[in-house]
Amino acid sequence: MATALQSGVFPAVSHAVNAASTVSDDGMQKILLGVSGGIAAYKTPELVRRLVERGACVQVVMTAAAAAFVTPLSLQSVSGRPVRTALLAPEAEAGMDHIALARWADQVVLAPATAHLIARLAHGLADDLLTTLVLATSAPVTIAPAMNQQMWQHPATMANIAMLTERGCRLLGPASGEQACGEQGPGRMLEPAAIAAALLAPPPAAAGALAGVPVLLTAGPTREAIDAVRYVGNRSSGKMGYALAAALAGAGARVTLVSGPAQLPCPTGVQRVVVESAAEMHDAVMARVADCALFIAAAAVADYRPAQSLPGKLKKHADTLTIQLVRNPDILAEVAARPDKPFTVGFAAETEGLEAAARDKLGRKGLDMIAANEVGAAAGGFEADDNALLVLWPGGRRTLPMMPKPALATALTQLIAERYAASASG
Ligand code: PMT
Repeated sequence: MATALQSGVFPAVSHAVNAASTVSDDGMQKILLGVSGGIAAYKTPELVRRLVERGACVQVVMTAAAAAFVTPLSLQSVSGRPVRTALLAPEAEAGMDHIALARWADQVVLAPATAHLIARLAHGLADDLLTTLVLATSAPVTIAPAMNQQMWQHPATMANIAMLTERGCRLLGPASGEQACGEQGPGRMLEPAAIAAALLAPPPAAAGALAGVPVLLTAGPTREAIDAVRYVGNRSSGKMGYALAAALAGAGARVTLVSGPAQLPCPTGVQRVVVESAAEMHDAVMARVADCALFIAAAAVADYRPAQSLPGKLKKHADTLTIQLVRNPDILAEVAARPDKPFTVGFAAETEGLEAAARDKLGRKGLDMIAANEVGAAAGGFEADDNALLVLWPGGRRTLPMMPKPALATALTQLIAERYAASASG
């Protein structure tokens, strides 16, 4: 007997997707949600609910494996539209065929996107309804991966993600943390609220605002070698800086990203230079700064490094060990002190006295702007998917509240573009 899934459209409401009993999509943001077969699929009714709450019309398309984790009926109930599951199902195709469905969408989001779905998309397969729709649509495609951390970090998955982002797909997540399989690491699907916020964020008003502007940006942590195997480091994941690189590129800037060691794919359209230590980051920046009009320092650069780094592995003979640290060059201050200085934006990571400390850095380092964030609190800052910023410039301030880092990066880019334009005209 054919199951509802095999027949291609979950039949409880209607055979035709655009039948009168479904939610009307007049004037609404039309989102095609592709659900693949991972444990995170149980969160998709919540994602649909949040999108619908914010005024979107959601059409769910499921892979065969997804139905093992969440029922089409649940997703139909929250979306108000029959769920589509199969390619070339006669009843479904009579209502809105797969090409019309691909054209209908304003945006496509794949959540959760399993390693298998990502691999099929990267290689252009069209072996079910969902992959066919992704090939047939001209709408922007967003991928919210969810999988075991080992699978996420496998070179095959990394290569597939790089292929997809280079082709213009947007990546949301994954987040890090405890996984359903009991392991710890990157691979958790972003929470539905964060995905909904990112999908429905206002279009970047800064799009084109930095057209052709050469931007040099630092991001991620640095590692200061103690010996051949150990280093002094910090908790920066690079998420904030990489999101900013993507938003700047989206606003038309020509972005060069000098990145410390971060487990993140290079954003689309961004040129990346990977470094390890503060000294290497300093040299990479100084070699390129003369060619940029805007410099942004989002990296968490180590202020100190071991005075000596041993070529071999340090032996543990004594009960205590003292490592002498010496100051690293302050890259941001050195750029801001140049006679031909670019428009210079710093970050400030503070655990207390955020505004006073950031104002002090703004003045002391001679910056045009500073984006200050609280670190060490329950939300935001290092490693988190969300963040909030207090942005200061001589004579002004703006608060950007807690939101996913990609949305925050878009808002910050808008503000930087405004201040950059004001400085160029004044
Ligand atoms: O990477 P994530 O996990 O997403 O976390 C994001 C973040 C918290 C790292 C980011 O938002 C942030 O705050 N980056 C700056 C961290 C930092 O080093 O702040 P600071 O207050 O110590 O330094 C002030 C500024 O001087 C920063 O712009 C820093 O890049 C720069 N600096 C510092 C020291 C140094 N030797 N050279 C520098 O350029």
